[in-house]
Amino acid sequence: MAYEHILVEATEGIATITFNRPKALNALNRALLGELACALEGVAADEAIRVLVLTGAGAKSFVAGADITEINRLNPLEAKFFARQGLATINRLGELPIPVIAAVNGFALGGGCEMALGCDFVYAAESAKFGLPEINLGIIPGFGGTQRLSRRIGIGRAKELIFTGRMLSAREALEMGLVNRVCAPEALMTECLAIARLIASKGRVSLRAAKQVIQQGLDGDLATGLALETDAFALCLASQDAREGTTAFLEKRPASFQGTLTS
Ligand code: CAA
Repeated sequence: MAYEHILVEATEGIATITFNRPKALNALNRALLGELACALEGVAADEAIRVLVLTGAGAKSFVAGADITEINRLNPLEAKFFARQGLATINRLGELPIPVIAAVNGFALGGGCEMALGCDFVYAAESAKFGLPEINLGIIPGFGGTQRLSRRIGIGRAKELIFTGRMLSAREALEMGLVNRVCAPEALMTECLAIARLIASKGRVSLRAAKQVIQQGLDGDLATGLALETDAFALCLASQDAREGTTAFLEKRPASFQGTLTS
């Protein structure tokens, strides 16, 4: 399917979705969010895709936030619909059965920072900047930032950033645990694709189980999370990949995971 505001590519089991409105620093308008939701369903349905990478077109921006031109015209009911649309799309990243990596190549502000926070982890270019500057617009984050930033970097730091709208450098974001790795801008995609290929070489069932348990466990208490882990651990043993992984270890050879979901 051809999209106007995003680019979708897939090679060797790794899909890349590029936010592609560089003239507006890849700001998220309703049309882009609709296209992204559609592309994510395509990725979810394609068994050949093992990892998804999100990035922004151009050297300057990952996503500079929700589209302020659209926000400026919203009445409260429309704003609610817009926030729900953005949130549902970002939530879907966590529900996908494959890992999602944010390759943050520039500004990740407002909805862009929230998009990165919705990914499983973040690699950033040295030039990247993170922040939730909505306070400067007289609004608050609307795509999950108040909740996800607090959970990721702690409530005090999140409040300071949300109350001031201050931008963080990639290095500061790394120190706070918002970012896993900082790369030279020209090396960002190479590094992201290298980690994506490494992850894609693992068993599909165990990757899916690990993501699901970590994700769902965060929403409940520790005992519930641990019970989820026990069940998922047991379920992994029904997979060909578990047989292959454990047998390969015992036979002192590298495992060759086929990624099949059948037992
Ligand atoms: N929405 C719409 N257009 C945007 C945009 C946004 N979020 N961010 C940048 N643009 C547009 C600018 O209007 C400008 O367009 P024109 O060339 O037509 O004037 C173009 O992108 C380039 O931007 P600048 O000239 O401002 O570039 P700069 O280098 O001087 O500044 C910037 C870069 C600091 C990122 C600045 O553009 C900026 O502050 N952008 C807004 C960031 C922001 O407030 N994001 C939060 C949005 S609200 C939100 O996301 C709510 C939510 O949680 C759902």
